[in-house]
Amino acid sequence: MAQVNAVITGIGAFLPEYRLTNDELSKMVDTNDEWIMTRVGIKERRILKEEGEGASYMGVKAIENLCEKTGLKKEEIDLVICTTVTPDAPIPSTAAIIADKADIRNALAFDVNGACSGFLYGLDMATQYIKAGSKKKVVVVSTEKMSSIVDWTDRTTCVLFGDAATAVLVEPTEENIGVIDTNLHTDGIGRHWLKIVAGGSVKPASYETIDNHEHFVYQDGKQVFKYAVTRMADVTVETMERNGLKVEDVAWLVPHQANLRIIAATAERMGVDSSKVMINIEKYGNTTSATIPLCLYEWEKQLKKGDNLLLSAFGAGFTWGSIYVKWGYNTK
Ligand code: UT7
Repeated sequence: MAQVNAVITGIGAFLPEYRLTNDELSKMVDTNDEWIMTRVGIKERRILKEEGEGASYMGVKAIENLCEKTGLKKEEIDLVICTTVTPDAPIPSTAAIIADKADIRNALAFDVNGACSGFLYGLDMATQYIKAGSKKKVVVVSTEKMSSIVDWTDRTTCVLFGDAATAVLVEPTEENIGVIDTNLHTDGIGRHWLKIVAGGSVKPASYETIDNHEHFVYQDGKQVFKYAVTRMADVTVETMERNGLKVEDVAWLVPHQANLRIIAATAERMGVDSSKVMINIEKYGNTTSATIPLCLYEWEKQLKKGDNLLLSAFGAGFTWGSIYVKWGYNTK
């Protein structure tokens, strides 16, 4: 029997209309455009303003965009993997809500929380299901309403994040393209430096947790930066080496968009020229698990079948990793 690979065959996205600029943020907290641009590299981020709507709303829109672009029919989808750190609610899963709202009736659907590495975790799972032969049309939907968990009085975090959703279709192929190697990791050592303290089973919501702002993202930026900058670079270089990829073989580095300095360090360690690095952090900030597929969505027309892509991420947990993808299609 021929070897079955898993290949990305389409990408959809949804971006909320509202653009929150650095200038507007500097009226809310003690910050400024110069600090944000030089330390992080963000100019603006999108914010979902629709009252009463959350991750599922954006996820459904991204899937609809995917179906429109690819001709994918809802009834063909047999697996929905939702990557998010901002579920609509703890139960039911956001994947179940998305499947219902999008009228996807024949699919297994569940959530995965790999934080900023969530898309890589989701793509890896999609690949395993496809290689095992049990699923054929898998949608990895990455949807993050980061504005709902950001403390808008904390300048150290509120400038960093944005809202977005993407939907990626993964299918089987017998060609030598698609997901070639996945190199993913988790180390709970990072759990103290990037977290939400309350709202779970250890510290359920109370008046006190609300007064203490414990339902918002807390980050010790310096500590996270230290690990991110080495681990994202190390794992990507390791993936290159174990697949015999030289720098000239790499068409694109597709990095998680948390900080321009982390991206630059990764590219430098790989020896990859900045012209081969997808960067859109300036427009969207850190959209957690949506950053990497959002880059693919924006660069889709420039990608050619057979291009070697290295996807690379680091996030809360810590979670980190890289995936080597041989791109599967040319866009007409
Ligand atoms: O995506 C998931 C993984 N997350 C990451 O990879 C993020 C990793 N961390 C980072 O990217 C960076 O650490 C940050 C962008 C979060 C912060 O940059 P930094 O260069 O590490 O700044 P810092 O935390 O060391 O703060 C430097 C100074 C401090 O002032 P003092 O103590 O030197 O007087 C901060 O209070 O900058 C101050 N500061 C700000 N100033 C203006 C912190 N936030 C702001 C702000 N505007 N928004």
